[in-house]
Amino acid sequence: MKNDDLKNAIDKLKIENIKMEHISKIGEGAWHNVFRIERNIEEDLVLRIRKKNAYGQLQVYKEIDLITEYESSKVYYHQANQCSYPICPSFFDYFQEESLVFTVESFMGKGKTLQYLSDSEAITIGEELGKFFKIMHRKDPDIQGFGNIIWNGKKLEGKMQEEVSYIWQKDNDFYLSILNSLTTTDLTFNREKVVNKILNLIKNRRENQQKISLVNQDVTPENIILNLDNVSLIDPFPKLDFDLKYAGYFVFCYKFLLPAYSNTDRYINHDYNQNSKILSRIADGFMNGYIGDNVDLYKCLLDEYILWTLLEAHEHYEILNESDLDPKTLQQMGDKEMIKNRLTLCLIELEKLSLDSSFNFFNRRDF
Ligand SMILES: Nc1ncnc2c1ncn2[C@@H]1O[C@H](COP(=O)(O)OP(=O)(O)O)[C@@H](O)[C@H]1O
Ligand SMILES: [Mg+2]
Repeated sequence: MKNDDLKNAIDKLKIENIKMEHISKIGEGAWHNVFRIERNIEEDLVLRIRKKNAYGQLQVYKEIDLITEYESSKVYYHQANQCSYPICPSFFDYFQEESLVFTVESFMGKGKTLQYLSDSEAITIGEELGKFFKIMHRKDPDIQGFGNIIWNGKKLEGKMQEEVSYIWQKDNDFYLSILNSLTTTDLTFNREKVVNKILNLIKNRRENQQKISLVNQDVTPENIILNLDNVSLIDPFPKLDFDLKYAGYFVFCYKFLLPAYSNTDRYINHDYNQNSKILSRIADGFMNGYIGDNVDLYKCLLDEYILWTLLEAHEHYEILNESDLDPKTLQQMGDKEMIKNRLTLCLIELEKLSLDSSFNFFNRRDF
């Protein structure tokens, strides 16, 4: 990043009395270089300057996409803080022109790194998150529609505007179609068990329509400030989708996805494999917090976990059949060998979850 970008961003912010020595780099994700601005009287701020290169590719400036992304974050932060203040930055703004794009938001502190969390701290943090997501999912979103969120020139809306019951049946049909396509491949797995499990699960799921909520598709630990007193969420990737499906996604991420992806360029520096026990404790805590005293939710989350595993297996299979992998896929999923190995992991997980004994899969406690 050019140092000019930082100077220009500070000029544009028009905050008085900011000297360069009050500014320090605190982080970097795939998309932004991140700086803390220390201030005397008012709260510290975070400046996120957008990178021109991401995933090894020059990023083309697309105004609508940037508005969509940053307006969605703003809405997510606002709704999240209505549910549990101050879980997200209370201040958020952004600036964009072709040569410089940045956001500015409240500084949420510096959390612990995963490896320094004890088991009980990880469970506590997971519980806090579970309780928060439960409330967040229950709240009716201000944005209409379903699916990916887009900026229509005036406001945000979901890409689909159909009836919920129709979308729900389509969602269930989709899992059956990927189940069908996986069973007609030459992959080795216990087809009978897996097919039975998923057919039964979907039959039951159809009858229990979930609620459309504002969900977060990027709940990885880099976007969570692991603070014991007040855990915070930053850099959300919001979408309008079903509540329990995304509660299951959190558990799936922490129990399966993060360790399984730890060998990719995208995640290699995060040691998710070495920290898999701690990640798993966060997921256990999340389940406790989300489920509360509604024990029926345990089975719902387990079912959603199974469906995410099915989806992941299918996605891996599809990608293996493509002739060339684009740079983003290579960075995020690895080369074909890594994808093949991960597909095997998905299939083993799916088989395990399809056994009758799978009800105790998550070291189930007596909720
Ligand atoms: N509001 C904030 N408060 C404290 N730390 C932050 C804040 N925003 C970002 N960070 C730090 O910077 C890192 C990268 O920021 P992030 O916004 O996730 O970048 P990217 O959009 O590239 O993923 C985070 O993992 C976190 O450590
Ligand atoms: Mg991030």
